[in-house]
Amino acid sequence: MALKYQLKDSSFYIDGSDVPKNKLGITESLEIHELERELLEDAYEVFYDELDENTIFDEEYFKELHRRTFDSLYDWAGEYRDFNMAKGESRFCQGAFVNTSSKKIFDEVKNDGYLQNCEQTPKAEFAKKLAYYKCELIALHPFCELNGRITRMFFDMIAVFNGYAYIDYSTVTPTEYIEASIECVQLANCGKMEKIIFDGLMK
Ligand SMILES: Nc1ncnc2c1ncn2[C@@H]1O[C@H](COP(=O)(O)OP(=O)(O)OP(=O)(O)O)[C@@H](O)[C@H]1O
Ligand SMILES: [Mg+2]
Repeated sequence: MALKYQLKDSSFYIDGSDVPKNKLGITESLEIHELERELLEDAYEVFYDELDENTIFDEEYFKELHRRTFDSLYDWAGEYRDFNMAKGESRFCQGAFVNTSSKKIFDEVKNDGYLQNCEQTPKAEFAKKLAYYKCELIALHPFCELNGRITRMFFDMIAVFNGYAYIDYSTVTPTEYIEASIECVQLANCGKMEKIIFDGLMK
């Protein structure tokens, strides 16, 4: 399927800034980040209210979280990237393989009952499961931007579905969170992320 438009790493941000080109013509970093914060906060309410026993945590749902949260701001909301991306020393899934790798991850989620039946699962086992899929999605890094926030929202909705509150990440520093992500991407080791999720999961 042809993309609606070609995504290119180089043309993605406004020159010399961390501000993605956007529908509203915003050029100020503080302004766009505040708007993203508000859109995310609103989206949490919307998706929380929509949760019911028919909610399926599949790829479509994951993409819809991104699309519906940021559609008013970005053309590429809900669209997977097709170019390569790296952060620091970490290379994420190659652009050419994002779609197939995503399908593989979400096939596993499906075979895991869409993570819908974990209310009776011991917390440690549930945290391990969530960390496994979270590390896979961190290594996939499928969107051009806002991967961290949408991935956290995805697992927050799964946590709520299974009788927990949103996962509390306030016990870790941003550096610790990145270190856990680095181990996911570079070592395929989700141990640190598992601990973060275990500590953050509360009924
Ligand atoms: N050096 C790195 N190695 C591996 N993964 C990284 C690295 N830096 C960041 N990440 C991962 O990428 C995510 C950030 O991706 P992105 O910028 O697309 O989303 P975001 O919503 O803006 O991020 P966040 O709110 O988490 O900072 C982080 O949450 C982390 O999981
Ligand atoms: Mg970012």
